[in-house]
Amino acid sequence: MAFHVSLLLKALLVLAVAVTELASQDTRKFTIVNNCKETVWPGITNSGSFNGSVFALKTGQTAGYTVSATWSGRIWGRTGCKFDKSGSGSCQTGGCGTSLNCTGPGSPPVSIAEFTLGEPDYYDVSLVSGFNLPIVIKTVNAKGNCSTAGCDGDLRSSCPSGLAVKSDGKVIACDSACDVFNTDEYCCRGGFATADACRPSNYSKAFKSFCPDAYSYAKDDQTSLKTCSSPEYVVSFCSARNGTICSVHKGELNCNGSTGLRASFYGWWLLAIVLPMIVGTHQFLGFIM
Ligand SMILES: *[C@@H]1O[C@H](CO)[C@@H](O)[C@H](O)[C@H]1NC(C)=O
Ligand SMILES: *[C@@H]1O[C@H](CO)[C@@H](O)[C@H](O)[C@H]1NC(C)=O
Ligand SMILES: *[C@@H]1O[C@H](CO)[C@@H](O)[C@H](O)[C@H]1NC(C)=O
Ligand SMILES: *[C@@H]1O[C@H](CO)[C@@H](O)[C@H](O)[C@H]1NC(C)=O
Ligand SMILES: *[C@@H]1O[C@H](CO)[C@@H](O)[C@H](O)[C@H]1NC(C)=O
Ligand SMILES: *[C@@H]1O[C@H](CO)[C@@H](O)[C@H](O)[C@H]1NC(C)=O
Repeated sequence: MAFHVSLLLKALLVLAVAVTELASQDTRKFTIVNNCKETVWPGITNSGSFNGSVFALKTGQTAGYTVSATWSGRIWGRTGCKFDKSGSGSCQTGGCGTSLNCTGPGSPPVSIAEFTLGEPDYYDVSLVSGFNLPIVIKTVNAKGNCSTAGCDGDLRSSCPSGLAVKSDGKVIACDSACDVFNTDEYCCRGGFATADACRPSNYSKAFKSFCPDAYSYAKDDQTSLKTCSSPEYVVSFCSARNGTICSVHKGELNCNGSTGLRASFYGWWLLAIVLPMIVGTHQFLGFIM
């Protein structure tokens, strides 16, 4: 009889683990962090998959979202925005029309975090449409090639001459060579559309040196596109690639410790459900046998 009980116990445990994994695959957690000295208004495409709307993030502020595991889209930062109470206005960089709620992409020059969630997920940071803010994507508790994507450096302070976008004498963004010179070579189109012909230019190389883990030109896949399965992503503006990972759990900001916290939550949750089941079954079996 002990044999049967332990078998049943095992089966229940396997079931409980499977159910937990299934549940966590329906959604992902996204945390957006602003470590910039300026206020950032995040932009998100297809944001209907997010459990809330976007709002301005002041320096050091964080927004946590639960996101459908089928979401694909972009996250970027808008700067220098002015919105009225009805959510209508405009931004100096990254604006998506006149609404606080973006329904389309941000206008270039803009640095973009791109995601295609699935099994596995794909993510990258792209500077193909220029640069307005450093963006870093990090994973938490992930499986696969889940290295950090994005930028260490702020290209605004080292934008190649001719590409700088200024406001009041200050560089607020850096255009792509494609947008400024509009040649087939810089834009990887026409005779330069294939992976072989689309090569890094002297301009894209300058972008790459500041953002080694980001797309600097259209076919820059090798060092830029990440394939990974992660329950949780942290997208941060103006954070170092080697910095600590912070994410929001139960309304509280956790830095680094988040991994342990998450594991223990699941642990307790599992115990709370499985233990009564085991005890109950055991008593039941003991009673009838
Ligand atoms: C989304 O859901 C999470 C978890 O329930 C919650 O902490 C977070 O505040 C929600 N986000 C928004 C923007 O409502
Ligand atoms: C933005 O979207 C949120 C949630 O869908 C909504 O509550 C809010 O009113 C919208 N704001 C504007 C300005 O459209
Ligand atoms: C990670 O990427 C490398 C090369 O990009 C590949 O050889 C390796 O198989 C990948 N590992 C996983 C776990 O996907
Ligand atoms: C890139 O090359 C073009 C043409 O050779 C030159 O005019 C331009 O100054 C170069 N730009 C940089 C950033 O080196
Ligand atoms: C992160 O990298 C920067 C420059 O790349 C360096 O100055 C800093 O000391 C590093 N921080 C940590 C915690 O390794
Ligand atoms: C936080 O994580 C980083 C990178 O994994 C690590 O280098 C650092 O020592 C950690 N800091 C703490 C306080 O655990």
